[in-house]
Amino acid sequence: MTPDVEIARAAAVIRAGGLVAMPTETVYGLAADATSDAAVARIFEAKGRPSFNPLIIHVEGVAMAERYALIPPLARRLIDRFWPGALTLVLPRKEASGISLLAGAGLPTIALRAPAHRVAQALLKAADRPLAAPSANRSGSISPTTAAHVRQSLGARVDLVLDAGPCRVGVESTIVKVDGERAILLRPGGVAREDIERVIGAALERPAGSIEAPGMLESHYAPTARLRLNVAAPSTDEAYLAFGPAPQSGRVFQLSAAQDLVEAAANLFAQLHAADRAVSEGGLSGIAAAPIPSDGLGEAINDRLRRAAARR
Ligand code: TXA
Ligand code: MG
Repeated sequence: MTPDVEIARAAAVIRAGGLVAMPTETVYGLAADATSDAAVARIFEAKGRPSFNPLIIHVEGVAMAERYALIPPLARRLIDRFWPGALTLVLPRKEASGISLLAGAGLPTIALRAPAHRVAQALLKAADRPLAAPSANRSGSISPTTAAHVRQSLGARVDLVLDAGPCRVGVESTIVKVDGERAILLRPGGVAREDIERVIGAALERPAGSIEAPGMLESHYAPTARLRLNVAAPSTDEAYLAFGPAPQSGRVFQLSAAQDLVEAAANLFAQLHAADRAVSEGGLSGIAAAPIPSDGLGEAINDRLRRAAARR
């Protein structure tokens, strides 16, 4: 429960140009006034993020989105089906919309999302402005799905943390760029590809190059420990991220005993955090992750695991 007084305090922090850790259904976001260059600059500073990486702008819903972006009919259908929720749309930006150009890293497009979380919606309403919010972690490290993760990663760099418990979805939003009649999947996430393709009646396209998804650096979501993928039989000195069957001995961090991909997505970052800590505190050799099917939310889970395992 987040009482109204907390929301009012958080809205005051936002209006004063400060940073609020905001719970959403995907992950915690580091929110600031999207119309203020100074407030947005503080996000980049707090995250230690390369400033060419644009931010998602959070809105209450489609009416607010229309102020900042052109919404083609295809995007409208996706909004009708998936908003509020874990879908971010990259759309042509309206000129002179009042959104900080720094938040958009100078691109002609804008990434918009209407979060479903009650507390995020309450903050948007109370602050009465769009909120720029990347995941509330230092750049390159694991995304936060609890308030404790936020405090561990950002500490005093954030002015106020709204603690609403663990995030329901647990992986970031799916990002789709809509360009006229074309829909391009820039990042798999909390809404499964299959569900989106059913609505558009066609396959999602692949991005032409890294230019289209500027934030999708190969190494990302990185634990401190070494991570091996697709491991069915971990060695006894590894922390094991299990999906169902787990060895009798060793440290096991279960994503979903029932092999449910939705449950595994919700547990992914918290278990990755916990496994990382077990390695550093328990003198283990690294983390091994079980094979995960790639359908449904498995696509987003595998994407995050691959990035977490990438050389850095
Ligand atoms: O679930 C989420 O999406 C969370 C919560 C807090 O809403 N936010 C999140 O933000 O994951 P962030 O900043 O960690 O990831 C935003 C991604 C980056 O990869 C960025 O490059 C991409 O969105 N992005 C933002 N604006 C873009 C644009 N105009 N064109 C292409 N990609 C864009
Ligand atoms: Mg992030």
